[in-house]
Amino acid sequence: MKQLLVIISLSIIFFACDQTVTENQDPIEAKIDSLMNKMSLAEKIGQTAQRGTSSRVKGPLSEELITAVREGRIGSLINVMNKEYVDELQRIAVEESPNGIPLIFARDVIHGFKTIFPIPLGQAATWNPSLVKEGSRVAAIEASTYGIRWTFAPMLDIARDPRWGRIAESPGEDPYLASVLSSAYVEGFQGPDLTDPSSMVACAKHFVGYGAAEGGRDYNSAIINESLLRNVYLPPFQAALSSGAQTFMSGFNELNGVPVSGDQFILDQILRKEWGFDGFVVSDWNSVTEMIAHGYCANEKEAAMKAAIAGVDMEMTSQSYDHYLEELLKEGQIDVAHLDRMVRAILRVKFRMGLFDQPYRVDNPKAILTEDHLAKAKEAAVQSIVLLRNNEGLLPLDKRKKLAIVGPLADAPLDQLGTWIFDGDKKDSFTPLAALRQANGIGNLHVATALSHSRDLSEDKFATAIAAAKKADVVLFFGGEEAILSGEAHSRAHINLPGAQEKLINAIKRQTGKPVVLVIQAGRPIVLENISASVDAVLMAWHPGTMGGPAIVDVLFGASNPSGRLPVTWPKSVGQIPLHYNHKNTGRPADSTSFVGINDIPIAAWQSSLGNNSHYLDDGFTPLYPFGYGLSYTNFAYSSLSISNNNLSVGEELKVKFEVANTGEVRGVETAQLYIQDKFGSITRPVRELKAFKRVDLEADQRQVIEFTIHTDQLKFYNNKGELILEPGEFSVYVGSNSQATMKKDFRVK
Ligand code: BGC
Repeated sequence: MKQLLVIISLSIIFFACDQTVTENQDPIEAKIDSLMNKMSLAEKIGQTAQRGTSSRVKGPLSEELITAVREGRIGSLINVMNKEYVDELQRIAVEESPNGIPLIFARDVIHGFKTIFPIPLGQAATWNPSLVKEGSRVAAIEASTYGIRWTFAPMLDIARDPRWGRIAESPGEDPYLASVLSSAYVEGFQGPDLTDPSSMVACAKHFVGYGAAEGGRDYNSAIINESLLRNVYLPPFQAALSSGAQTFMSGFNELNGVPVSGDQFILDQILRKEWGFDGFVVSDWNSVTEMIAHGYCANEKEAAMKAAIAGVDMEMTSQSYDHYLEELLKEGQIDVAHLDRMVRAILRVKFRMGLFDQPYRVDNPKAILTEDHLAKAKEAAVQSIVLLRNNEGLLPLDKRKKLAIVGPLADAPLDQLGTWIFDGDKKDSFTPLAALRQANGIGNLHVATALSHSRDLSEDKFATAIAAAKKADVVLFFGGEEAILSGEAHSRAHINLPGAQEKLINAIKRQTGKPVVLVIQAGRPIVLENISASVDAVLMAWHPGTMGGPAIVDVLFGASNPSGRLPVTWPKSVGQIPLHYNHKNTGRPADSTSFVGINDIPIAAWQSSLGNNSHYLDDGFTPLYPFGYGLSYTNFAYSSLSISNNNLSVGEELKVKFEVANTGEVRGVETAQLYIQDKFGSITRPVRELKAFKRVDLEADQRQVIEFTIHTDQLKFYNNKGELILEPGEFSVYVGSNSQATMKKDFRVK
């Protein structure tokens, strides 16, 4: 009896303690508790639904949708772009739905809203996180005036294949650069205070591996082993989370045989359990029900079950949750506690956004396309431009030169905006031709664009371009791709200049011999093999956005010195793809001493290995331009590399010091880059990995000592068991102006 009493009293004490522990002290969690207590099952399931319309629909929403909002059966709407509808729908949700839970209005605001910034791959070429942050802040300020408080950005897919159309939306091939930019995007979109009506919740997408689509074919399968996943594909997402990203999007792709929208290992084990994410996961457009086509689920009900269990909290556009969650709960296939966790995550973000206190849009038409926003967009475009070639110092141009303006992108206001801009308007674009015409002192223009768009095959106007070139000192050829040739579902097998552009460039060179400057506007690196001999200077301007024209003109004439650096390796040919700087060495590392070209092989040669290690007989092993590369109108010299310690203990820091000098005649910005090679490991390690970089602005003749600090934690890597380890051994550190930097020091970790 005494024993029983002890047990009872202990249980009472335990129960009482347990109560105090679970009673939420966090004010937001407490609010969620009290709201959840009032919500019906239908309302809870409603929070998991994101409905809406296609990005191009401007018309009224269906009665069915409006009724669903009124009944509390929708948590978020995508692509509602009419301000009055936004206001009215929010009013219905707040005033008429059972518990007045506000909606979140979402939209893809990727690289600007009305003021369009360069495509993300171009922004990555700035290597300038503060500029990227400013750009995403501008996007949030503009979009939020339309009620958009949730953007499906940043896109953080590491992309190693320029055939893939969505490389345009990506931060490029490197996990470190992508991580730095990831944080910048999140901080810019979300701003310092999520409850500020001008803040937009960020969504880290597409979690994960979408960029590894086989052959660069969109939506294709990705096979990524665990160490590669954790060392290369996951870091930008982890950075987004560390910077406060509130939502993640599960991708369309399958990863190692499991569509990620149904992958518990990715969405639950890694994201929630390992990383501690407490925001919510939204599926990509219909990606839940696409698991049927993947062959992973037999029907919609199974798709709903697998996605929910894996960790998709909100379903974008497809309605399997709406149709089947209740049934799955009744059958015990999904636990109520699991649904509660999903709903709590969604409500948590809504509370954090302050939506319950301020659900309504704050209009501010004056916040759109302001002078300040346009100036920032121009600066981003300027800094994104990469000077790839500049034979005999052809650039910058003297304004007094007579110029022939040729090519389909000289005056292509829509195309310069780039991919996936639903709200940018070509009327606001400032094209290169318009900028040339307006610039002071540039009088001698002979304009003959000759091709009406990038795919134009007509040679009818070649003669006009050649005539213009004959009258000119220099030919400015504005080539590239239309915006619609990159982006989602726009992969290309041939990534050279499309249409008759190559033919026209070669014809101009052949018939006039005039120097040709090729200005490329495109969503990806462009293979130049067919025109290489005809172009004297090459500027990569990506799709530069609203202010692309003046940015390009400033660079052409030297008002701005180009400072962009490649965020992706630029191949010589499509046959070299995939090609990325941080590859493995192999047992027979490629090098020039062992290279035998295709024409050096004797006819009927003996069939042994030539020693051609990891080479192509025709294209060798080096890219046309390496990752990190970009020229300037001045020159930079690196010297005096020293390291603080060549025998580091675990936990110590390595100071890497060197000097960069501007040895040319004009001011310029150099991006000093530091790479590390871990020479031997329990799994093989990349030939080098970017670990630090810094933009340095130097006057002519100025020099600066730069010091980077590398902590031994930065030398850790994931093995194939998913363990983050630091292995003692030999390392090299390289510094210089791109990923082929040769200045190096060796050190050990003991
Ligand atoms: C894309 C996502 C995008 C979504 C909503 C999908 O097709 O893959 O990146 O956020 O559409 O527009």
